[in-house]
Amino acid sequence: MSTFWFDGHEVPFRPGATIGAALLASGIRSWRTTRGQGRPRGVFCGIGVCFDCLATVDGRPNQRACLTPARDGMDVRSQEGTGHGEFAG
Ligand code: FES
Repeated sequence: MSTFWFDGHEVPFRPGATIGAALLASGIRSWRTTRGQGRPRGVFCGIGVCFDCLATVDGRPNQRACLTPARDGMDVRSQEGTGHGEFAG
């Protein structure tokens, strides 16, 4: 089974899975916090519409986890706000 990294932990996934599906299958339900109040977010719509599932993927912030295919060895990180480091809590 292939794996990717999520905040330093290995996450297994099946071929064809999205990042969001793999995270949910591993029991991880949130990986982003909102800009205003830092509330947790993860998959909501699951079809690319709501942007609740944003994550930083291989250094690129604001990638929709529900649409992004998982790849072996990729580096996925949870994201605060816009993912550009402006969120102070
Ligand atoms: S869960 Fe809505 S865009 Fe990904």
